[in-house]
Amino acid sequence: MSSKISCESSRDSLLPIEEREIETTHARKPKGLRRACELICERRFLTNGISILHQIIFIIVFILAVNVAYHRGLISQPVASVKSFVPYIGPAAGPVIFTDSPDWSGNTSQAAENWNKWLVNFETHTIALSEDSIAKFGYEPGLYDTNHSERFGISMFHQLHCLATIREFAYLPDAMRMPDGKPLDHDGVSFSGFHMDHCYNYLRQAIECYADSTVEWAKINEQGQRRGIQGWGIPHYQCRDRDALEAFALAHHNL
Ligand SMILES: *[C@@H]1O[C@H](CO)[C@@H](O)[C@H](O)[C@H]1NC(C)=O
Ligand SMILES: *[C@@H]1O[C@H](CO)[C@@H](O)[C@H](O)[C@H]1NC(C)=O
Repeated sequence: MSSKISCESSRDSLLPIEEREIETTHARKPKGLRRACELICERRFLTNGISILHQIIFIIVFILAVNVAYHRGLISQPVASVKSFVPYIGPAAGPVIFTDSPDWSGNTSQAAENWNKWLVNFETHTIALSEDSIAKFGYEPGLYDTNHSERFGISMFHQLHCLATIREFAYLPDAMRMPDGKPLDHDGVSFSGFHMDHCYNYLRQAIECYADSTVEWAKINEQGQRRGIQGWGIPHYQCRDRDALEAFALAHHNL
């Protein structure tokens, strides 16, 4: 079989039926894939030009399709799915618009109340797993809970706890100290400096793990000047359903 003949058959199979019919009437206007195919075949760049060309085109189309699907949010599964007791959390129902939240700002009692829920979320948002579940999902030991369960954390809540700890350190540095003024001792580990460094490093990696690629535009001030990128009012289309994760955690707080 000459490469010329296989080029023709390849061209036909690549075109949809309507286009093939049009081709017969406009046969003198090679373009696009057909032209590329002819060039490769005629010049004999490849000994088996057609099957390799097919493969290249398939790979390019596949990559483009995956990219389009990914950027439209149709693909949101993690690349490597790992067995987990906590199910994969799907996308939020709609875009999440980041906004300034006075209830979470400053040293007010309302802000303290909101943040302190996350500060102590070990008590509310950790989950208890049975020995069977621990074995089934291949986890290392959790924290001792009862004889029939162990307690595990979930990353999002640990991240929120860390952020609340940093806030506490900013507004209530004394809360990180023992009555004698020494850093709070947590199981032999000095709480203050250690916990800050732990949280900075933990949150840095959490943020990088998420790699939110939302584009943020400028904030325009009252004089109409573009000053800085504030992030408020920007819709985020990559968010996951945090309420679903919270519902799961609360439902599994105890066995
Ligand atoms: C739990 O374990 C401890 C120590 O192994 C044991 O003394 C206790 O009786 C156990 N309790 C129950 C309810 O099994
Ligand atoms: C924040 O408020 C608390 C009282 O609620 C006060 O003890 C603390 O000093 C305040 N922190 C700052 C940085 O003003």
